[in-house]
Amino acid sequence: MTDFLATRAMFDLPEGVIYLDGNSLGPLPKAAAARVAHTVTEEWGRMLVTGWNKAGWMEQPTRVGDRIARLVGAAPGTVVMGDTLSIKVYQALASALQMRPDRKVILSDSGNFPSDLYMAEGLCRTLGQHYTLRIVEPEDVANAIDADVAVLLLTEVDYRTGRLHDMHALTQAAHAAGALTVWDLAHSAGALPVDLAGSDADFAVGCTYKYLNSGPGGPAFIYVAPRHAEIALPALSGWLGHASPFAFDLAYRPGTGIERMRVGTPPVLQLAALEAALDIWDMTTMAKVRATSLALTDRFIAGVETGCPTLTLATPREHARRGSQVSFRHPEGYAIMQALIAHGVIGDFRSPDILRFGFTPLFIGEAEVDAAIGTLTRIMAGDLWDRAEYRTKARVT
Ligand SMILES: Cc1ncc(COP(=O)(O)O)c(C=O)c1O
Repeated sequence: MTDFLATRAMFDLPEGVIYLDGNSLGPLPKAAAARVAHTVTEEWGRMLVTGWNKAGWMEQPTRVGDRIARLVGAAPGTVVMGDTLSIKVYQALASALQMRPDRKVILSDSGNFPSDLYMAEGLCRTLGQHYTLRIVEPEDVANAIDADVAVLLLTEVDYRTGRLHDMHALTQAAHAAGALTVWDLAHSAGALPVDLAGSDADFAVGCTYKYLNSGPGGPAFIYVAPRHAEIALPALSGWLGHASPFAFDLAYRPGTGIERMRVGTPPVLQLAALEAALDIWDMTTMAKVRATSLALTDRFIAGVETGCPTLTLATPREHARRGSQVSFRHPEGYAIMQALIAHGVIGDFRSPDILRFGFTPLFIGEAEVDAAIGTLTRIMAGDLWDRAEYRTKARVT
């Protein structure tokens, strides 16, 4: 297995904690704290407003976008940073719908993250004119793509089960039916190799606070295929997506290529944290991360199935059908996860019954996997989860 000791040393991880939740919020890269402090004191503090030019803040969204592009199989100049993922979903969907004006259906699946579905619903409501969101089961997506579908909106890796869609095949199927695709890479970017260009994807969006470790509230990204970049019209036509923001024209003119997907002022401090986090990604390749992630997840599945027979695997076993997380079902999943966290192993719970564990080879290895299996086995064997305090639901699960 590839040795990730060097990347692990780049993270500030609390002693005594096994962190299997980097798929929800990545841990703190040591360099991020220093980089943000530098941006605050030396750039903001000393340069004041001149930082927009002198420190390169204005170019940061495309400069960082190019580094993300490398991780998701996209060419430089096709990805830009900004806003939250929900906003980027809306933006990509709205542009795609405008490119298929004779069609009224957004097709998605029941495994999609609710915010994507809510944004699609809201967009349909705003557009009126009989726009609808059609939701089918994940395994029925290919058969549901018909001549009414304008856009196929899918999250590649299911946030609950870890099931991986075949991006290449579904994009081909959508194109064959005349539809466009919007791929949500929230649980893919930094989790497994993604080939946006090779898959011929039209639009893609993703967040950076999970596997890419940009910190809470880190900005999202959007990808537009080069063939659409000068055609796609941004529905969120903010000034920084204008062809000439500092001309302060009264009318909107879209900027060149991916620049038009910018909206407003970029989150400079969060982008500084992300830039430091991305330095760690320069130390490895997605192929090595994937090979290690599959070995770690195989090991975890085998260990938990042996030690905890009452937990049911919710993640597909086949490598080609899963991302970098492993989920188990149990009716008392919430209490079990709280007990696990209290015993130093952090994963999370997703309603109604999913215990979710993210595997992030940059800082998790075999020793942590074995220790997590041991702790979970002890908790299940001794019913250590069966306490009132573990049943009290917190606001964030
Ligand atoms: C697949 C997916 N899409 C969208 C979102 C929403 O992202 P945000 O809160 O950044 O808008 C999430 C959040 O976890 C997600 O997992």
